[in-house]
Amino acid sequence: MRERRTVDSSSSAADPSEGMGTLRLKREIGLISAVSLIAGTMIGSGIFMSPEWVLYHMGSPAGSLIIWAACGLLVMFGALSYAELGTIIKESGGDYIYILRNFGSLPAFLFAYTSIIVVRPASVAGVSLSFAEYAVAPFYQGCSTPQVVIKCTAASCILFLTIVNCLNVRLATAIMNIFTAAKLLVLLVIVIGGVVLLINGHTQSFQDTFQNTTARTGPIGVAFYQGLWSYDGWNNLNFVTEELRKPEVNLPRAVMIAIPLVTCLYLLVNVSYFAALTPAELLSSGAVAVSWGNKVLGNWVWVISLSVALSSFGSANGTFFSGGRVCYIASREGHMPDILSMAHVRCLTPSPALIFTSAMALIMIIPGNFSSIVNFFSFTAWLFYGTTIAGLLYLKIKKPELPRSYKVPIIIPIIVLIASVYLVLAPIIDQPQIESLYVILFILSGIIVYFPLVHYKRHPQFLQRVTLHLQLLLEVAPTAKNTN
Ligand code: ARG
Repeated sequence: MRERRTVDSSSSAADPSEGMGTLRLKREIGLISAVSLIAGTMIGSGIFMSPEWVLYHMGSPAGSLIIWAACGLLVMFGALSYAELGTIIKESGGDYIYILRNFGSLPAFLFAYTSIIVVRPASVAGVSLSFAEYAVAPFYQGCSTPQVVIKCTAASCILFLTIVNCLNVRLATAIMNIFTAAKLLVLLVIVIGGVVLLINGHTQSFQDTFQNTTARTGPIGVAFYQGLWSYDGWNNLNFVTEELRKPEVNLPRAVMIAIPLVTCLYLLVNVSYFAALTPAELLSSGAVAVSWGNKVLGNWVWVISLSVALSSFGSANGTFFSGGRVCYIASREGHMPDILSMAHVRCLTPSPALIFTSAMALIMIIPGNFSSIVNFFSFTAWLFYGTTIAGLLYLKIKKPELPRSYKVPIIIPIIVLIASVYLVLAPIIDQPQIESLYVILFILSGIIVYFPLVHYKRHPQFLQRVTLHLQLLLEVAPTAKNTN
């Protein structure tokens, strides 16, 4: 993969050990942006919509609150484990690079293949669809919004994010920071509303609060899926370690600030929903946050719709930002066409990878439906989170001598591993669905692509010329790693 003829912006200064140019993405992400990349991606549309589903599967308010707390604890454990991985393996690329370094090329390729083609674009598409739904809702009061309007709005959101992310990393992180601040504020408004209601004696949801709680593993697994979708994004910083300033300090620190913050807010927001709405009202609400707004804010309910739209927009930006990086890194490792690992010579953004991710997300929007995206996203995601965590256990047991600035007690990754096995298996065992089989078949179909194209490097002749033309068109050049 390495000797291809490519236009190198700095060929005279090329680093012979890398065999590539010395163009590098810069370290532009500080602690605040790091926290907001995590919290800002985690808080999307989920917390405004999935509480209803968690309650539906768990049967009782107490049951749901336990799920929300357990999800927070689980992702905290997951993120701490990833923080240790990030301080041992200092490259960007998150799960992909950890699976590559611990388990080798084929499993890493399967991860990249699945996440670049389906998982990441699907999550960008899912979040953009919820942005679109709430952004246009005020224009269609009293009637349902035409699907084509929602889909076109979601597509414009993706195109806008592509332009911003291709232009400038700073601009993308600034958008992230502003939107994160805004959504923290909205969640705080909901929390304060709840406190006021509780003080005024609205505690009926909390009487007999355990009644009807389910104990079946299948529904508990699906409730976890819904809750965990709202928490997803917790590992986002690991995708951009090479762009983070002082990653050995800032990676664990950002995790320790962002995740407890989001968990506390999510729990309190749920309490506030229960204070305003009875379980029956919550179950029939369609969009919990809007029903909450109708009750508590009255005419001001549009503030909530607007906030859900903005919150989803910010989360789509974070997902897009890190999603593009998986594609970029996988290509740098020879798992995707070379063009995807190049960066714009002036803007220093991985624009080909971003454009590719955006194209895939646009395709997903066409048939896409939010709730099916969520369940299958979670199934696939936890399959790979489990694999990555197994890699950390391997490193802890077999290579304890490797230097790392942050160490997590071994029991923590063990718990996450057990939880991910449960999360992958419980819904399948309880209610086998043909779609899970499709997901597995899709992942395995990567093997057919891997051997000819990656292992034996049988590339079609025209690829080199296409790469060259695209390089000139997009003004991009190869990049080097940035791990020192
Ligand atoms: N947690 C977000 C939400 O509630 C979804 C994040 C999707 N992005 C991701 N990188 N997993 O809407």
